[in-house]
Amino acid sequence: MAPEAPGSSTPEAPAGPGRFITLEGGEGAGKTTLSRALAAALAGAGLPVLRTREPGGAPGAEAVRGLILGQGPWDPVAEAMLHFAARREHVARTIAPALEAGIWVVCDRFADSTLAYQGAGQGLSRAVWEGLCDLALGPLRPELTLVLDLPPDRGMGRALSRGDANRYEMQGPEFHARVRAGFLAIAEAESGRCAVLDAAARPEAVLAAALETVRARLGGLA
Ligand code: TYD
Repeated sequence: MAPEAPGSSTPEAPAGPGRFITLEGGEGAGKTTLSRALAAALAGAGLPVLRTREPGGAPGAEAVRGLILGQGPWDPVAEAMLHFAARREHVARTIAPALEAGIWVVCDRFADSTLAYQGAGQGLSRAVWEGLCDLALGPLRPELTLVLDLPPDRGMGRALSRGDANRYEMQGPEFHARVRAGFLAIAEAESGRCAVLDAAARPEAVLAAALETVRARLGGLA
C-alpha cells in the first residue's frame, strides 16, 4: 500500500509541525480498519491527514518489505536492520516531509513493532533496538501510540481467515504471546505516549475509544 494522499482539507491548513500517531498490536487486531477510520475521522474534522504503514510507505521501503516478508529466515539482527532500513526511508521520504508540512500522520506499525516482534518475539536485545532507533530515527518518536490489544488466538483466527499468511503469522502461539506481552510492556513503560485499546470490541467502539484518546492527548479535534 502506498501512503494515501493528504486529505482534501490541506489547502487552507497552515504549514507547521504535524502530529505523529502510530497504531500497534499483534496479528488480526484491526489496525488497518482503525487506521482507515481514524484517518477519515481526522480528515472529516478538517485536519490534513496522511495514512501510511510499515514495513513500507516509500518506494525503497516497499522493496525492503519484499525482502523481509519474501525471503528469510534472517539472522535476528539483520532482520531488525532491514526493518530499520525500510523505516528510515519511510521517515525520510514520507513521514518527516508530511510532519513538516503540518500534516497529521497515521502510521500502521512503527518502531514498537520491531521491539515487540524482533525483541520480545525473536530475542533481539533492547540495546540493539535502541541503537537502531537512534541511528535511523534521530529524535523522531511518535507522539501518540494506540496499542490494539487482543488475545493472540482471536487475532490469529482473524488473520488466518484472510489467507496468505506471512511468515510472522505462521509462527506458533508462544511467539504471538510474547509479541502481545512485548506490546503491553512497552505501553506500561511509556504510558504517557501509549494507550491500550481493547481490540475485541466492535470496530465502532474501537474508533470511539481511539478518537477519545486523540482528543485527550493531542487536542486539535472539535
Ligand atoms: P503485514 O501484512 O503488513 O501485516 P499486519 O497487517 O499485521 O501489519 O505484515 C507485516 C508483518 O511484519 C507483520 O506480521 C508484523 C511484522 N513486523 C515485524 O516483525 N517487525 C516490524 O518492525 C514491523 C514494522 C512489522
